[in-house]
Amino acid sequence: MDHFEYRQNELFAEGVSLASIAAEVGTPCYVYSRATLERHFHAFDAPFNGLAHSICYAVKANGNIAVLQVLDQMGAGFDIVSGGELDRVIAAGGPPNRVVFSGVGKSIEEIRHALRRGVRALSVESEPELQRINEIAISLDLQASVAIRINPDVDPRTHPYIATGLRGDKFGVPFEDALALYQKASKMSGICLTGIACHIGSQLTEVEPFCDALQRVLDVVDELHKIGIHLTHLDLGGGLGIQYSTENPPAPQQYIQALIDVLKTRECNMHVTLEPGRAIVGNAGVLLTKVEYIKKGPDKNFAIVDAAMNDLIRPALYEAWHDVVEVNKTVDRDSQKCDVVGPVCESGDFLARDRMLAIEQDDLVAVRSAGAYGFVMSSNYNARPRAAEVMVDGDAFHVIRERESTTSLFSGEHLLR
Ligand code: LLP
Repeated sequence: MDHFEYRQNELFAEGVSLASIAAEVGTPCYVYSRATLERHFHAFDAPFNGLAHSICYAVKANGNIAVLQVLDQMGAGFDIVSGGELDRVIAAGGPPNRVVFSGVGKSIEEIRHALRRGVRALSVESEPELQRINEIAISLDLQASVAIRINPDVDPRTHPYIATGLRGDKFGVPFEDALALYQKASKMSGICLTGIACHIGSQLTEVEPFCDALQRVLDVVDELHKIGIHLTHLDLGGGLGIQYSTENPPAPQQYIQALIDVLKTRECNMHVTLEPGRAIVGNAGVLLTKVEYIKKGPDKNFAIVDAAMNDLIRPALYEAWHDVVEVNKTVDRDSQKCDVVGPVCESGDFLARDRMLAIEQDDLVAVRSAGAYGFVMSSNYNARPRAAEVMVDGDAFHVIRERESTTSLFSGEHLLR
């Protein structure tokens, strides 16, 4: 459920018409709904019903500081994968002790930064990383709170680029090697072993892979128990899918209940962390764009819009499907089949293909489900300034990121003397 809906044939985000935002802020422009963000966060938080848990929103999905601020105010923690994301959380007012730090390539500077700031845990993905964290912690005269990320070798049945929990993926430690690594870690003076983590992929539409991975992780927890290593924190990552088109993913409530059921059968009382990104912010945002031209081709028409693959790369990169809708529905106009494409000089620059749309030049369209992995993956390809971002809050809206200027794009460049 989201708060984007038509009122008399005009698309609104909460109480604000998208056309009024375009008129003031211009296009292309990302528009987010605060009420939707809050609703989705609550959908993850509520089902735990008193069980000790943290919802650590995955900053990578959408790191705008106003988005982080809204979630922080609801009590969210944050899952980060870089020092830059930590800085964003801090700038938004988020407390570092609610932050978990994942990622296979943490640099010395990033680890030092995270330890100095006092993040809640680092998810360790390899033995050399563990050694590096230990050395840095000792040099800072503190202990790093660590979870080891397990690769459970479970097929998440999603796009191969966003599957992370299969044996061949670069992520995590193979579950059969985990025990030995925990034993090594338990002897390191800079390491405090607090947890175990896993994340098997993104845009999952079934609960079974999550439950299978959880079983594997709990097997490791049991083995650790036997050798005297007692962990308190269980981080199950993110990955719950959303509806872009005809997918029918479980609701957060169903997904969490399935996890709780597994935990009960295994008599596990650990603190549970989830790291949802897409399911919180994906359907809380749209990309608002204007039709520059309708180009009639020999076989099909092209709606050339002012947003492109640099603004939203998911269709080009994963052949991802995003719904595209008219901002103003004109009842007496016929729809026609078209590809919705951007101005970038590549045939891979499309936002949607073969869609029936009733649009003309200068009309506005909204690309739905663009709140996650939209702006954050945008680039300046073709010297295109990145889009503005707007947050709607009831009947008001706020520009939460200004549109870039073309000159700012080369402000750090230097001519040869
Ligand atoms: N935790 C970890 C360790 C992750 O690697 C990810 C996502 C998440 C949490 C959040 O997953 P989510 O709940 O958002 O599925 N750019 C791709 C998605 C990449 C996801 C990478 N990791 C896309 O546009 O589909």
